[in-house]
Amino acid sequence: MIHIKTKKQIETMRKANRIVARTLEILRENIRPGITTLELDQIAEREIRSNGAVPAFLGYRGYPASLCASINEEVVHGIPGSRVIKTGDVVSMDLGTFYEGFCGDSARTVAVGEVPERTQQLMTVTKEALEHGIEAMRVGNRLYDISAAIQRHVEANGFSVVRQFVGHGIGREMHEDPQIPNYGKPGTGVRLKAGMVFAIEPMVNMGGWEVKVLDDDWTVVTLDGSLSAHFEHSVAITSDGPDILSLPD
Ligand code: MF3
Ligand code: CO
Repeated sequence: MIHIKTKKQIETMRKANRIVARTLEILRENIRPGITTLELDQIAEREIRSNGAVPAFLGYRGYPASLCASINEEVVHGIPGSRVIKTGDVVSMDLGTFYEGFCGDSARTVAVGEVPERTQQLMTVTKEALEHGIEAMRVGNRLYDISAAIQRHVEANGFSVVRQFVGHGIGREMHEDPQIPNYGKPGTGVRLKAGMVFAIEPMVNMGGWEVKVLDDDWTVVTLDGSLSAHFEHSVAITSDGPDILSLPD
């Protein structure tokens, strides 16, 4: 069942998501060659708690950190640790909060130093695919219009969308109905209504779409070892169009 949020609840979700957005900004300012992913996690947890929020990922199904930091061929759910960031790394940072009973969730991929042109394109196309998906979040459209808009942009640029992981409804819980694949048939799926709030999160690979989970039971990597990028926003559907909640104020 898809929960419809009131305007007031959406404003609370905006607060939860702005804390995520500001924290992601701070991580982007702090990421540099030599820093470990554990240090990034500590910065994130401190910032989230200093805003009166709680890290949403910490303890979720036993996840041991506040941040997911996924480097290069890692797609999502990389666990922070002693790994040192190097020049040329592509780092996906995914973060969630709980604030006043509601969840915020957003992610972005950043390059550390210079990266090849095609790597930059991978990140740009993933961010654009997210924007195309958000643009389809209009009252009267159908759910898989969002999925199809993402898939079309990714594949038109010669990249592939991960199929094993999806976007999701978000609200009092991090994962609510519906699941939102990043591929699908336009004109199908439930009709979109004002008050639905979705976390849209394309995961895009340079090579094939297949992925596997490492022995730590969390880290998702591309099967062919190719690079991957991930952008995510939490977005409310309103009668005036999509309202991105996870932007910094
Ligand atoms: N943005 C991810 C998601 O929506 C983050 C979950 S990581 C976890 O699924 F550790 F909390 F599982
Ligand atoms: Co999410």
